[in-house]
Amino acid sequence: MDKQNKRIVLVTGATGGLGTAMCKELYKDGYHVVGNYHTKEKAEAWLKTMKAEGFDIQLFHGDVSDFDSAGAMIKKIEAEIGPIDTLVNNAGITRDGRLINMKKEDWYAVINTNLNSVFNCSRNVLDGMIERKFGRIINISSVNGQRGQFGQTNYSAAKAGMHGFTKSLAMEVAKYGITVNTISPGYIGTDMVMAVPEKVLAQIVAQVPMGRLGGTHEVAHLVSFLASEETSFITGANYSINGGQHVY
Ligand code: CAA
Repeated sequence: MDKQNKRIVLVTGATGGLGTAMCKELYKDGYHVVGNYHTKEKAEAWLKTMKAEGFDIQLFHGDVSDFDSAGAMIKKIEAEIGPIDTLVNNAGITRDGRLINMKKEDWYAVINTNLNSVFNCSRNVLDGMIERKFGRIINISSVNGQRGQFGQTNYSAAKAGMHGFTKSLAMEVAKYGITVNTISPGYIGTDMVMAVPEKVLAQIVAQVPMGRLGGTHEVAHLVSFLASEETSFITGANYSINGGQHVY
């Protein structure tokens, strides 16, 4: 809790499309929202826009793909703002390409940023959550971690790995009042998705029974729901939010 008794939420990758929507939704729902960023120029512009729109959100620098950098950032947030009650592991990148063309760097960058970051941040907030007997860890995975995607061996492997992490950690920390859940968005109208070649994206949207991309606010609403006190019996779960693209 912060000084005003508000729950503190850390959203990693806050300046991206989904991260921004999550920050806004959580702020509107009464949380003290803290964001993580990696690129300075983007962060400065983002803060200006947020302020102009009336959102009082602090940003902290950290490379979540690096254990020590993530740890130092979390220490700084907890010293300056207060203990983190909810961690949203949202930071993620793509380096799409068939495996036969994939460079070693593209494999490791995606695994480190999308999967190892989940360990790096969760490990660094967990002791405090256990001590306070409350916590919410929300991992942002993807439909492509559930079903695979041509050109995304690295991304799908990382996103599928999150599910195993969620299920196992949920069991370990349930007795401390900490819940751990995964959200698996489908194709949402973010810059990341809009970077997919137009023709390929049109084919993907054609497979979505809703016939459209998802909205960032639709995912953000689900994040805020899972952060709430009332979801205390939901843990180890995966929430699909993909317009019916993948149902099982
Ligand atoms: N299924 C089967 N074959 C396919 C295919 C598919 N979906 N897509 C391409 N191919 C085939 C092509 O027909 C072609 O075959 P031939 O060589 O026999 O002619 C071959 O693969 C090469 O195709 P490309 O020229 O497209 O190959 P490329 O290596 O230049 O590009 C790619 C491949 C990078 C995967 C490109 O198709 C692409 O960007 N696909 C989209 C990947 C995607 O959905 N990314 C999601 C990003 S957003 C995100 O990740 C958020 C989220 O969580 C949903």
